[in-house]
Amino acid sequence: MKIFLDTANIDEIRKACSWGIIDGITTNPSLISKENKDFKETVLEICGICKGPISAEVLSLDADEIVKEARQISKWSENIVIKVPLIQDGIKAISILSKEGIKTNATLAFSTNQAILACKAGATYLSPFVGRVDDIGWNGIELIKEIMTVINNYGYKSQVISASIRHPMHVTESAKAGAHVATIPYKVLEQMFKHPLTDIGVQKFLEDWKKVPIKT
Ligand code: E4P
Repeated sequence: MKIFLDTANIDEIRKACSWGIIDGITTNPSLISKENKDFKETVLEICGICKGPISAEVLSLDADEIVKEARQISKWSENIVIKVPLIQDGIKAISILSKEGIKTNATLAFSTNQAILACKAGATYLSPFVGRVDDIGWNGIELIKEIMTVINNYGYKSQVISASIRHPMHVTESAKAGAHVATIPYKVLEQMFKHPLTDIGVQKFLEDWKKVPIKT
């Protein structure tokens, strides 16, 4: 499973990318607005740090406007993927953009039927929001499983990004469900490193090492 970082924060991106485990970055308008910086400037800075796909979202809701916006944004850098909301005009725009070879990420996916539409339109990626599905009392991981079954049944080419990840178990369960990618907030990525037995084990090795006789 590929790991994308779900943030627009440059410090977080630099640090996580230095670990050599990050395959791409996803941003959205809320994440961009948190950074209080120009959109294009931020996206270009991210592209300079991470060579993988960088998702940048359009704001238009009309198909022609989405296509226009997407064409512009995609010229900023070759690793940009255009995030498009999964609405009728969004699907229409994705169909046009995919024929032009512009990579897309169908975002705000909450059902298997929406996922099927994104696959049919030729979306490069589609992003079911696991945490937000859990928030309304449904099961986000079950949604990922169902979408993966359909994708495998028909050999659709779109890659599933398990998004809106809230805790480490969402990552494990996404991997078990066969998601192609999990896009993970920095805090959850840090939590993935942690295990009490690793800390205890490291401490014990260091203490025992002090008892090894040193030959001078
Ligand atoms: C995905 O691409 C989105 O940016 C993100 O995962 C949304 O997560 P949230 O539900 O925590 O806002």
